[in-house]
Amino acid sequence: MKENIALIGFMGSGKTTIGRHLAKELEMKFIDTDKMISMHEKKTISEIFQEHGERYFRDLERKIIAEESRENNIVISTGGGAIVDNENIKNLKKTSFVVYLDSSLECIHERVKNGKNRPLLNEVIDLFATIKELHEKRDWLYRVSSDFFVKIDVNSNIHDTVNLIKEAYIKS
Ligand code: S3P
Repeated sequence: MKENIALIGFMGSGKTTIGRHLAKELEMKFIDTDKMISMHEKKTISEIFQEHGERYFRDLERKIIAEESRENNIVISTGGGAIVDNENIKNLKKTSFVVYLDSSLECIHERVKNGKNRPLLNEVIDLFATIKELHEKRDWLYRVSSDFFVKIDVNSNIHDTVNLIKEAYIKS
C-alpha cells in the first residue's frame, strides 16, 4: 500500500469534496494543491492566471506536487491539468495510490457552470463544448496516470464513492 492517495480528474469532478471525506475516514491529512498555490500567492487562481499567466501557475503546481509527494499519510487533491505534466505523474505515482474521478460531462458542467475561479472555463462562449473538447484531450492521460478509477454521474452518492476508493486503497 502506498503512503498517500492522490485524486486526479477534470475540473468539477469532485476531487476536493471527495478528498476531504476520504481523508477524514482514513485519518489522513488533506491537502489541495490549488488551495496551497492560492495561499502561497495570496491570490485566487484566476488572478494568478491573469497576472502571471498559465506557465507561472504550472511551475508552482509542479513544485507543490513534488514537495507534497514526499509527505506521508496525506490525501492530495490535484488541479485538473496537473496530469498534463509528466513530472507530476511521476512524482504522484512514487508515493500515492492515484485515483481518477471519472465524472460525466453533465456532472462536470453542472458543477462548474456557476463558478468564476476556473480561468480555462471563464468567459467561454459554449461552456459544454469547451468542457467536452478539453475532456477529450485529457481523458486518456487521466486513465494512464491512475491506479484506479471511479465513475461519477449525477446519481452518484459521495459516501459510496468514498467507500469504493477506500476499499481499493486498502486492498492495493
Ligand atoms: C485547471 C484546473 C483547476 C486549476 C486551474 C487549471 C485545469 O483545478 O488548477 O484552474 O487545467 O484543468 P480544479 O480541477 O480543481 O478545478
